[in-house]
Amino acid sequence: MTPNANTRIVSVRRLNKEGPGDRSLAEWWATERENKTPEAAAIEEAAQLLRTSDIPVAFPTETVYGLGADATRSDAVQGIYKAKQRPSDNPLIIHVDSLAMLERILNPVQESPTRATKTAKNGIPSIYDSLISRFWPGPLTILLPNPSGSPLAKEVTSKLTTFGARMPSSPLARLLIHVADRPLAAPSANASTKPSPTAAEHVFHDLEGRIELILDGGSCGVGVESTVVDGLSTPPAILRPGGIGIEEIRECPGWENVQVGYRDGTLDVKEIPRAPGMKYRHYSPKARVVLFEAGSNEQSVSKHIRKDLEDSAVGAHMVGIVRTRNWKRGLGLLPDDEIQKTLKDIPSLVDELVGFSVPVSNKANGCVAAKETFDCFLGTDVKSIAQGLFSALRAMDDMEVDVIYVEGIPDQQGDLAAAVMNRLRKAAGADLRV
Ligand code: TXA
Ligand code: MG
Repeated sequence: MTPNANTRIVSVRRLNKEGPGDRSLAEWWATERENKTPEAAAIEEAAQLLRTSDIPVAFPTETVYGLGADATRSDAVQGIYKAKQRPSDNPLIIHVDSLAMLERILNPVQESPTRATKTAKNGIPSIYDSLISRFWPGPLTILLPNPSGSPLAKEVTSKLTTFGARMPSSPLARLLIHVADRPLAAPSANASTKPSPTAAEHVFHDLEGRIELILDGGSCGVGVESTVVDGLSTPPAILRPGGIGIEEIRECPGWENVQVGYRDGTLDVKEIPRAPGMKYRHYSPKARVVLFEAGSNEQSVSKHIRKDLEDSAVGAHMVGIVRTRNWKRGLGLLPDDEIQKTLKDIPSLVDELVGFSVPVSNKANGCVAAKETFDCFLGTDVKSIAQGLFSALRAMDDMEVDVIYVEGIPDQQGDLAAAVMNRLRKAAGADLRV
């Protein structure tokens, strides 16, 4: 596709904030349409594009922005792979607005129904009942058998016999699906390999010219993608850590023995990952990411960074520091009162991003040069760390830093921290420091 579309960002923030309240999606939509609100016009246009065009539409969910297409039309689904430049053996997640929509996929109307389809209650394997009642709508994707005569386009499943489905908690996402009246196939709306987008501006940065419409619902609340679970295998498995913690899943009947079926870091190429997407380079900003695991000694981290700055061979002219639990601003590269002298607040989508200069003497020629250092604090709470993570990596790319040093968090608790560290280990690849 020649990247020449006129990409527009249209705000639907009010709808995402207000939600339907006690009303059904249909009632909510009727009121908005009657009042001819600008947001209703945007949803109407997006829904129309989803039904008729082969160019996908970007929309917010509670996890990250999705790049949506009608999951029942092959041409539309192919449009996603083209816009993202995504490998076509990586299957997509289907987003539904209701259980009824999912049941229609699982029970396609057939001319001569088989015994199995006649007797199926709703087609959703009962192992998922406890998860669905606790976590839907929300950031959880379940694997389901793709039925014979499935209405889903074959490009959705990339030749697998299963498909992934989720019901997002973002009211805006559910309203869009409802108005389009189609299940939406939607991967994260980043260019393939880049960090997932958590704001409309991130989508614009990656896909400008490739898509026509980005619905802007504000920043995503969760900030990392949904947890992907496979209840069709015995024992059930978690294929991707995400917005719902592993421990919470273990509390659900039938899921007490859930296995971890994903690997962090770079995958061994000989190994076949169970979620195909997990084998690709992912979440990678332009800059090199160096991840320090939780508990790394702050002084040795500081020494490490100074050495990179001094060593011209490494070529680190500008560096970024992403802090979480313990690291102090500037990591002792400069006393805090010295930092204050050159401190600049950097306007950005992340709240606490500042820049300052560190004088460094070059090893080769002994000259002292001021190296620009950008420092971003994500907060200490795991929720705010997850929410700000991708945005921080992207902000550092905007600053054009060469290396981003990141302070890891402990991920043994089986909560959202596992998702954060999984994304960071992938972004860092081999650059893991303990
Ligand atoms: O939070 C999310 O899940 C976001 C938002 C937009 O909903 N979507 C998302 O989609 O992250 P994507 O395409 O970036 O990641 C989907 C993941 C991939 O790792 C893919 O391999 C896996 O789910 N997946 C999808 N269908 C699968 C299947 N049938 N079997 C195994 N893994 C599957
Ligand atoms: Mg993705």
